[in-house]
Amino acid sequence: MSKVLVLPGDGIGPEIVNEAVKVLNVAKEKFGLDVELDEALVGGAAVDAEGDPLPEGTLEKARAADAILFGSIGGPKWDAIERDKRPERGLLRLRSSLGLFANLRPAILFPQLADASSLKPEVVSGLDILIVRELTGGIYFGQPRGIKEENGERVGFNTYVYSESEMRRIAKVAFELAMKRDKRVLSVDKANVLEVTELWKEVVTEEAKNYPEIQLSHMYVDNAAMQLVRAPKQFDVIVTGNLFGDILSDEAAMLTGSIGMLPSASLDENRKGLYEPCHGSAPDIAGQGIANPLATIMSLAMLMRYSLERGDVADAIEAAVESVLDKGLRTADIHTEGTRKVGTEEMGNAVAEALANA
Ligand code: NAD
Ligand code: IPM
Ligand code: MN
Repeated sequence: MSKVLVLPGDGIGPEIVNEAVKVLNVAKEKFGLDVELDEALVGGAAVDAEGDPLPEGTLEKARAADAILFGSIGGPKWDAIERDKRPERGLLRLRSSLGLFANLRPAILFPQLADASSLKPEVVSGLDILIVRELTGGIYFGQPRGIKEENGERVGFNTYVYSESEMRRIAKVAFELAMKRDKRVLSVDKANVLEVTELWKEVVTEEAKNYPEIQLSHMYVDNAAMQLVRAPKQFDVIVTGNLFGDILSDEAAMLTGSIGMLPSASLDENRKGLYEPCHGSAPDIAGQGIANPLATIMSLAMLMRYSLERGDVADAIEAAVESVLDKGLRTADIHTEGTRKVGTEEMGNAVAEALANA
């Protein structure tokens, strides 16, 4: 039996997770999966109920689960509260407490969505990039950090730090994954300015010696950001640190048509994982029933593939998504002329139905 913990969170989180759970229930039935579902509070919802974005009870359930399906957290309601109580800190603590250091963000353009991207179809068609983002270190977690008074003014500070072992283990994940793909890895750094990433480049290069078949290249992050919109198909696997990975993955999302299309897996050393869309709680559209649930549904597919080791179920869920796109159904964010605009629920129902009938 596998235990999956569902953490809907805030904003559009509950709306999109609801649709993924529908698909999960169909998958359970169809494939006879022995999966037990549980649910808990996280983010702003947990702050409101218990005064903590990651209550002890939620963390305990997360530790006991084999995999976590996560919606999104945050919103203007909690932006002004004490820093440690903010929803985002709950997610960061969850990632860190569970050791989820390897964040996989695949940016794949479904051919049906070639017109939905803000880039020309010929620039993005056939796109298949995997961003491997380090998730539990770097400037997100470095100490000291804070805001202090100095010489009569406020000074904000963070620390950008990575140990060699942290760099090595994420490089290894990228190389292992690239071995199953086109065997090309781009490491993104700012080694021309920042010592941390000068060492990053060195360590990644050393680690590459264990993978003689891998073609490793390096790029400064500013150039990488530019190349991603100039000629994104040149990339296979991109490995980078926490902050650069956060930024580049939102940029890559747009190549696929919408941020609502980018799933993710955050894995520990033993393939336990948290699965969530790359986007946030989208306060501007929350409660309207128009959010795209596909990133979350495809995160569920990743959950099947990596934590439950059911690649067959993952493939079936992804095929169901494709078939719904084939039928011309589109949420507002990926809607183009000649396709049919649907809401969150209708999109989720269509994927669930396509999976049931596959
Ligand atoms: P966002 O990703 O929530 O939204 C950016 C834009 O993309 C918005 O216009 C939104 O409507 C749109 N969008 C996002 N997801 C969509 C979907 N599924 N379908 C259609 N459109 C979608 O980023 P933001 O506005 O910068 O942040 C809002 C809140 O979310 C903040 O509190 C932030 O901290 C939080 N956040 C959380 C996560 C997470 O839970 N992992 C990730 C990013 C941001
Ligand atoms: C993401 C989000 C988070 C991050 C925030 C909400 C802490 O932007 O998952 O990409 O920066 O990692
Ligand atoms: Mn982000």
